[in-house]
This record gives sequence, C-alpha cells and structure tokens, in this order.
Amino acid sequence: TDKRGLKDFYQSYFSMGVAVGVKNLVGDEAELIKKQFNSLTAENAMKMGPLQPREGFFYWKDADSIVNFAVKNGIRIRGHNLCWHEQTPNWLFKGKDGKEVTKDVLLQRLKDHITTVVSRYKGKIYAWDVVNEAIDDDPAKFMRDSKWYQICGEDFIVKAFEYAHAADPNAKLYYNDYNTERPEKRERIYKLLKSLKDKGVPVDGVGLQAHWSLQEPTEIELSTAIERYSSLGLKIQFTEVDMSIYPWEKNKRDRKPGESDEFTAELQQKQAEQYAMVFKLFREYKDVITNVTFWNISDRHSWLDEYPVMGRKNYPLLFDTHLQPKKAYWEVINFKK
Ligand code: G3I
Repeated sequence: TDKRGLKDFYQSYFSMGVAVGVKNLVGDEAELIKKQFNSLTAENAMKMGPLQPREGFFYWKDADSIVNFAVKNGIRIRGHNLCWHEQTPNWLFKGKDGKEVTKDVLLQRLKDHITTVVSRYKGKIYAWDVVNEAIDDDPAKFMRDSKWYQICGEDFIVKAFEYAHAADPNAKLYYNDYNTERPEKRERIYKLLKSLKDKGVPVDGVGLQAHWSLQEPTEIELSTAIERYSSLGLKIQFTEVDMSIYPWEKNKRDRKPGESDEFTAELQQKQAEQYAMVFKLFREYKDVITNVTFWNISDRHSWLDEYPVMGRKNYPLLFDTHLQPKKAYWEVINFKK
C-alpha cells in the first residue's frame, strides 16, 4: 500500500489539515490523521465557551491534548477561534449585577481571554482564526448584529487582532467566514478586510471556511473570490472544507417526504468532480494559499449529519465510513506533480 498521503502529494503546494476532537486521537482515526495530514484544528476545544467556562477559570485539558498530539507527530496547528458569537460562555456579556457589561469591560474580558490563550500556545499555534463570522448573511446589512457588535461596534474586531498580535507577534492572524464566494457576501467581507488593512490592523490572511455543496461554488466564483481577497495582500487558507451532497437552500431544514440519504453512484461522481475542480484551482493559486483544512475526518462523522437536519447522513469528506479513500480522494491526488 502507498505510504503517501494528502500531505505528501501536496507538499510543494500548501499544508493539509483536518478538524478534530480528542476522541479522534486514538485508534484508526489517529493513524489516518498521521498518514494524511500535517495540520490540525480543534473542532470545538479552543473556542471561548469550552476554554473559559467561568471567568478566569480555564479548562485546558482537551486543547492541550490536541496540541500535544500535533507536536509529538510533527503536525502544525491552526487555532480556532478567539472571538465568535457562538459557543461563548454564559458569563461573558453580563456583569455581577446581572446587567449587560459596558464596552470597556467586554474589551478587557476579550483581552484577558486572548492574551491567556495565545500566550499559552505561543510558538506552537502558527495561525489563529482571530475573529469568526462577523459579517451578516443578509446582503442589506454589513456587520452581524451579535452581542459583540451591539456592545462594542466594529472595535471588537480591531482590538481582537491587536491583542492576539501582542501576545504572539509571530502567529499569523486570520479573519474567518463562510459563504465567502457568494458575490454579495464576498464584497462585504472584502470591505471589512480592506478597512482593517487601511487602519494598519495586524491581519495576515482570510480563512474561507468552504462549507460547500455539489452546486457551490462555481469555478468562476471561487477564482474571483481568491483574486479579490488576495489583491489586498492577504494570504488565503481554506479552513473548514466539506462538500455537502445537499444544496444549501433556504428549505434545506425540511426533510422532504421520502427523502433518501443514500450516497448514490451519481452523487459520488458529482462530488468527485466538484472536489477535482476546487483542488485544481487551489494548485493554480498555490502562491497565495497556505493551508487547506477539512472539517472532520471522514464520513463516519460530520457536523453535517446533525445540521441543518438532525440525523440525516451526509457524505461530505474524502474518506468513507470505513476510513477508506473515496472517488473524490483519488481525484484530489491525481494530478501531475
Ligand atoms: O459540549 C456539549 C456537551 O457538554 C453536551 O453533552 C453535548 C450534547 O449535545 O453538546 C455539547 O456541545 C456541542 C458541541 O458541538 C460539542 O460537541 C454543541 O451542542 C454543538 O452545537 C457544537 O457544535 C459545533 C458547532 O461548531 C457549534 O456552533 C460543531 O461540533 C462544530 O463542528 C461547529 O463548527 C463550526 C466552526 O466552529 C465555525 N464554522 C462553522 C462550523 C460548522 O458549524
């Protein structure tokens, strides 16, 4: 059997990563990680809620296990994430009096969190998703109307990058988001990034999550997005790649009567073609792309099996439920080296 994995085929292009939890670091999944990948992201363990469940109390065990596994196996680590509107701890936006905190207090909490976390993994985590998903999905709006935004305005973004940079000046700092190839969201993300660059904020790159489907993105949407963001002098990482077999439509939440979750030969073929197309573009843009990371290891478990329809199996990754390479895998590694 071939000893080479994704990381070897892509050695002269970019690092190849995968999102994991501690439960993935043993047995056959651990073996697959070591063979295929040279970058790891914690799927949940480094988010603010899991990491700082009470003010000033940090739960490091899971995050440390992932970092230790990576260091031991010569795998680099992306940090995910320092500031997000989801998976925040309950105490974060409230003071001891139960009222909403002021901007000053919230920024101090953000600073304490970022400083503590980034310092702990200084020199081990080479890139951080500093701010995650701050742009609204509604084309008529700009910033997402989160607690962060309500209390701090856009300043929380600027500050988050400054705090992270102060804690580890060598870490690469990313703004991370989804639907980044849709023109109307792309332009709003571009506007945010440009304003950060214009203000001299230490942002190194943009993370394009790449929660994609068989229909989306098209080749032209993807290449346009890569060129648009990189025109700002930013690096690009594809941080959460998967290829849902269901289209991301408004009605996706509803399981249609009799809807099958069978991964048919036709779907396998379409998915392989979509993966082939995006990886061909990734290789063409290797000068600006520094990492590609999959969101989960194999079709054995994907977050898409629970969202947006609970219990509907998806098959979005390169390895099947037995951890064997799928048709899409062979397409991804089948190119002139
Ligand atoms: O921690 C609790 C645990 O105590 C409890 O027993 C269990 C019962 O369901 O829930 C656990 O929390 C879950 C957590 O994952 C850890 O498994 C949450 O309910 C669940 O909502 C959470 O989902 C994660 C989601 O982010 C949170 O919004 C997914 O695993 C994770 O894949 C997903 O990842 C995000 C990226 O961070 C950002 N981009 C989108 C991506 C997909 O949504």
